[in-house]
Amino acid sequence: MEFETYSLARVVHVIAVILWIGGVAMVTTVIIPAVKKLKSKEDQIKTFEEIEGKFSLQAKITTLLTGLSGFYMLFELDAWSRYLDYRFWWIHAMTLVWILFTLVLYVLEPLVLHKLFRNYAESNPVKTFRIMHRAHWILLLLSLITTAGAVAGSHGWYWFK
Ligand code: HEM
Repeated sequence: MEFETYSLARVVHVIAVILWIGGVAMVTTVIIPAVKKLKSKEDQIKTFEEIEGKFSLQAKITTLLTGLSGFYMLFELDAWSRYLDYRFWWIHAMTLVWILFTLVLYVLEPLVLHKLFRNYAESNPVKTFRIMHRAHWILLLLSLITTAGAVAGSHGWYWFK
């Protein structure tokens, strides 16, 4: 195994995860609560779309880098059989979180969610932002549990025997 390239993949993986999940944390704990407090629904929709729109491009890039570096590490370690071992639940969790975000960012948001958000936010902004805030919290918590499991697991602490 080429040690330098493997280590580089790990560095890219962790930096991409920091930027990506850190951004999700910022949107969830700071930006959506601030947008909810804006007076008019026009301001709420416009501000949210501008900020999330910019973050969406960053998230697309960092998600892609996380996936490429992650699958490269699995390939170098020849560790595909981990998918068959429940002690490596954190490998399943990483893959699941990655698939969820890839689907949302590359498929659902551009095709469905964007229009859906606009229509619902126009007619019922309070409920729309509440549902969206909740969805962000769920994805953030799932990502944090995954990150904790991945750091512990890749250093030999599996949590399950
Ligand atoms: C398709 C998606 C992904 C694949 C294939 C993948 C694969 C991997 C692999 C093979 C490792 C090294 C394991 C080891 O050394 O035994 C790793 C480490 C790690 N991954 Fe992922 N990963 C993916 C997505 C994610 C996501 C979405 C997150 C965070 C939410 C994440 C966070 C981490 C962390 C924190 C580490 C540990 C780094 C360290 O402590 O050095 N990964 N990943």
